[in-house]
Amino acid sequence: MSLFDIEKNTSVIKNEDVLNYDYVPKTIPYRENQIQEIADSIKPMLYERSGRNLFIYGAPGIGKTASIKWVLRELSESTDEIIPIYVNCWNLKTKYFIFSEMANQLKLSFTAGKSAEHVLQQIVYKLKNKRAVFVFDEIDKIDDSDFLYQIVSMFPTSSIHLISNNFEYITKIDSRIRSRIILKHIEFRPYNLDEVYGIIKERAKIALRKDAIDTSLLKQIANITFNKRDIRVGIYLLRESAKIAEQDGKRKITKEHVKKAMENVLDKTLEEEKLNKDELLIINITKEHNGDVSGKLFDFYKKKGGKLSYKSFKRYAKNLEKLGILKLELTSGGFKGKSTRIFLN
Ligand SMILES: Nc1ncnc2c1ncn2[C@@H]1O[C@H](COP(=O)(O)OP(=O)(O)OP(=O)(O)O)[C@@H](O)[C@H]1O
Ligand SMILES: [Mg+2]
Repeated sequence: MSLFDIEKNTSVIKNEDVLNYDYVPKTIPYRENQIQEIADSIKPMLYERSGRNLFIYGAPGIGKTASIKWVLRELSESTDEIIPIYVNCWNLKTKYFIFSEMANQLKLSFTAGKSAEHVLQQIVYKLKNKRAVFVFDEIDKIDDSDFLYQIVSMFPTSSIHLISNNFEYITKIDSRIRSRIILKHIEFRPYNLDEVYGIIKERAKIALRKDAIDTSLLKQIANITFNKRDIRVGIYLLRESAKIAEQDGKRKITKEHVKKAMENVLDKTLEEEKLNKDELLIINITKEHNGDVSGKLFDFYKKKGGKLSYKSFKRYAKNLEKLGILKLELTSGGFKGKSTRIFLN
């Protein structure tokens, strides 16, 4: 048997795409109310009235992005009148990058080398006499929310949706922007155990071969997912244990396969998959110099090629603390009396 010979019918996974985190399922159970509210904010635009603006918030991994993407997909399948624009701000922290991404989605070319304002003007021109839904996901990752003021001024009848897993974000944006964008709040509550089980079972049904996993194991995965409070954990466990089973030449996932997949989860924080290079650099430096004061860590960060200012460095560290990865402790006795020590959590 050669190295690449495969045995027919040993496959456990029927459709691997379904096990990607950004796969948008055909239905999003348990989020019907939120989906209805999102749709209601867009509908008036179909009657030439103004859309509503939303602030969508809730913990990580509980269907905020999936729900909005589901609505946008429905929208684009039913009308060309309203243009959906979805921007994830995670790695697009400045308004230039955000406007360029929007221009890209509108198929506007040649934005390179132009100013942010120029790119915005092109977008305004392209959307002349049209209405749009602008979704800015992970909005709390943005360096400067000022661009929202420009969007709302240029597109006063469109609908703007801001999404965050940090409710506090909204209290921090400039009051000038807040008074201009009246935002209806939509909360996503965490799922209960039955709901988590329902979601995982459905994912397994469309992703895996029939009978590839027993109910007892699905329940075990649902329990772990519920405790970790993030549906991605369950999707990860399904994908990994199915792959381990396939490597093992089996057609069915066993307890041992799930156990092995669990060990892999522990090695690798799920958050790490979504962190950008500065955040990863800060984590690595903290690993090497655990508990050092922030100024010193910043020097090490710079030496390793980090480009952030000290202010942004500290903001990033605070964000990593919110994610439960770092721990910041204010101590007395620093150079100016007070300093922050940074630890790996
Ligand atoms: N009700 C649901 N039905 C089916 N799949 C779901 C449901 N809720 C969440 N998921 C799935 O769980 C995963 C995580 O959901 P999603 O990406 O929407 O999280 P989120 O709330 O946007 O998290 P974050 O704040 O970290 O961005 C996705 O793969 C999504 O498809
Ligand atoms: Mg999301």
